[in-house]
Amino acid sequence: MRLPLVNSDSPVLRAQAAPVTDLMKAVATAANLLQTMQAEVGVGLAAPQVGQSLRLFVTGVKGEPMVFINPEITERSKEEILWEEGCLSLPRLLGEVRRPKEVTVRATGTDRQPFEVKADGLLARVLQHEYDHLEGILFTDRMDDLRKLKRLTEEEWASRSEDKDRGGPKDET
Ligand code: NI
Repeated sequence: MRLPLVNSDSPVLRAQAAPVTDLMKAVATAANLLQTMQAEVGVGLAAPQVGQSLRLFVTGVKGEPMVFINPEITERSKEEILWEEGCLSLPRLLGEVRRPKEVTVRATGTDRQPFEVKADGLLARVLQHEYDHLEGILFTDRMDDLRKLKRLTEEEWASRSEDKDRGGPKDET
């Protein structure tokens, strides 16, 4: 089921999300998050973005759906890189954010077993962006200079979504 996204000024986007305790329910929610992410043509979506203050997010980098329940970032590379980010919760905005190049994330999967992912490239970027959503942090909070925030027109934003269908590197999460 496709879920509606909350507005950008919704307090749930600014709250620290609660740990998942009902795994069965989280697995069902994850399926809806994946469907919503795909419908919105994003590469990541966190539960708070659909109004559920839970430590749960999904990613779809290179078309591969992944589910992270109660994720923890256990390692961050010293090396940091700038990468342009957007967010389904902040329509039409893009900005460059500095973050560690590589991260290791530990989480519980839909099979209810713990797993670990060591990521670089787009997946590392998306994992950190989505993890921030669980802490009530938006990418704009991490920009060095908000004056560099780019505002796209509706048309530009929509055509960017089409780019994402082709797996472009600058995706909304
Ligand atoms: Ni986002």
